[in-house]
Amino acid sequence: MGHVGLRWGWGCCVPNPLLLLSLLLSAAPFGLLGEETRQVSLEVIADGLDSPKNLLHIRAVGDNSTLHYVWSSLGPPAVLLVATNTPHSALNVSWSRLLSPEPDGGLEVLPKESIQFSSALIFTRLFEFDSANTSDAAAKPPGKPYPPYSLTEFSWNNITDSLDPATLSATFRGQPMHDPNRAFANGSLAFRVQAYSRSGRPAQPPRLLHTADTCQLEVVLAGASPRGNHSVFGLEVATMGQGPDCPSMQEQHSIDDEYAPAVFQLNQLLWGSLPSGFMQWRPVAFSQKQGSRESALSCQASPLHPTLEYPLPQSPIVRAFFGSQSNFCAFNLTFGASMGPGYWDHHYLSWSMLLGMGPPPVDALSPLVLGIMAVALGAPGLMLLTGGLVLLRHKWHSEYQSIS
Ligand SMILES: *[C@@H]1O[C@H](CO)[C@@H](O)[C@H](O)[C@H]1NC(C)=O
Ligand SMILES: *[C@@H]1O[C@H](CO)[C@@H](O)[C@H](O)[C@H]1NC(C)=O
Ligand SMILES: *[C@@H]1O[C@H](CO)[C@@H](O)[C@H](O)[C@H]1NC(C)=O
Ligand SMILES: *[C@@H]1O[C@H](CO)[C@@H](O)[C@H](O)[C@H]1NC(C)=O
Ligand SMILES: *[C@@H]1O[C@H](CO)[C@@H](O)[C@H](O)[C@H]1NC(C)=O
Ligand SMILES: *[C@@H]1O[C@H](CO)[C@@H](O)[C@H](O)[C@H]1NC(C)=O
Repeated sequence: MGHVGLRWGWGCCVPNPLLLLSLLLSAAPFGLLGEETRQVSLEVIADGLDSPKNLLHIRAVGDNSTLHYVWSSLGPPAVLLVATNTPHSALNVSWSRLLSPEPDGGLEVLPKESIQFSSALIFTRLFEFDSANTSDAAAKPPGKPYPPYSLTEFSWNNITDSLDPATLSATFRGQPMHDPNRAFANGSLAFRVQAYSRSGRPAQPPRLLHTADTCQLEVVLAGASPRGNHSVFGLEVATMGQGPDCPSMQEQHSIDDEYAPAVFQLNQLLWGSLPSGFMQWRPVAFSQKQGSRESALSCQASPLHPTLEYPLPQSPIVRAFFGSQSNFCAFNLTFGASMGPGYWDHHYLSWSMLLGMGPPPVDALSPLVLGIMAVALGAPGLMLLTGGLVLLRHKWHSEYQSIS
């Protein structure tokens, strides 16, 4: 576990027909459900004070439900996820409470009875490791740790300036408040948030399939001076536990697909049984803006642990919504290893994930892979089975053509 083989290659293997069959079967229902759309709005909620206290509310309204994503850089960067079963639920913010030492009740989604699911993610620390003397690519940690950057001690841009209602996106860009070595003099850590009103797939790898129920987060470290020649970076992520347990982490395997060549895995964090929330990502990061095979790094996730043993930086928005509950769980993501491409190549690192509520999107197979399978299996039975997919091919085909 843990080690991701980044074997880039198009001369695709055709494994066990049973696996292919089960992939086909699991791929079919998603497409047949069709695409749901939502009315998505992004709003920056201002506090009327001088320094920006970024609070971004993404409201995604469907026929019978509303999803609320509340992103903030108050304290460590964090997001609240709240799903309600009415198209009329609303976010209520009390800034005086939110900014007080006891923010409980400062954020509410009303009516309270409509809430079907709620949770949160908090991005607490940026790690940097010196992997120079680490020859084992799967070593954990990937080298000698430098002192971590606490994201609570970052200052962030005014989110209003990056808000783009046309693309439903906004970017939190930050630097350490105290940066004695001027490591971030020309650099920043950015959290680019993107909402969607319908399903689709972005042009940039890893091309995660999204739906109107999801948001994408892209984390980009760019231009910061590393503290060594072989710095590997990592990110600590905390979330709410479910009673005494931590949310579950899943690894799904898929065959080599053109949407994410040679990344055979989809990682998922599930907060509970459905309807629930999820975080979904491919275990890959990129060392260049134009993500490609050459710039792909593996991304490793540690297991989730309860954080009772060590203090977690407080997120005012999480406290404001959930009160002073304390069962948090955390895990680490590390990007790259001592070998292969790394941050050192271009002083650039990007990693993306989806955050959503409801059933997680299930990756359908691309036309190329379907074609390979049809040739490889050639069985009339398979053709019958895929008959139902023919209607969908049209859509996939046009999507495929828009790639290159
Ligand atoms: C943030 O930027 C917007 C638009 O440029 C501006 O109206 C607002 O006053 C700024 N907020 C702060 C606190 O500087
Ligand atoms: C919304 O609710 C109505 C009435 O309960 C139902 O008929 C309809 O199918 C629901 N729509 C969706 C998209 O779930
Ligand atoms: C790595 O190895 C070199 C040579 O053996 C040594 O000089 C250096 O201090 C080591 N660096 C770390 C971080 O251990
Ligand atoms: C930042 O960039 C400027 C101009 O490109 C350069 O002169 C300066 O040395 C850089 N500073 C750091 C700390 O990298
Ligand atoms: C980085 O590499 C350069 C050239 O290879 C070397 O001179 C320098 O000492 C290295 N720095 C560190 C911190 O290892
Ligand atoms: C993440 O990694 C850091 C540095 O190796 C370690 O101190 C911390 O305990 C790890 N956190 C989790 C949740 O594994």
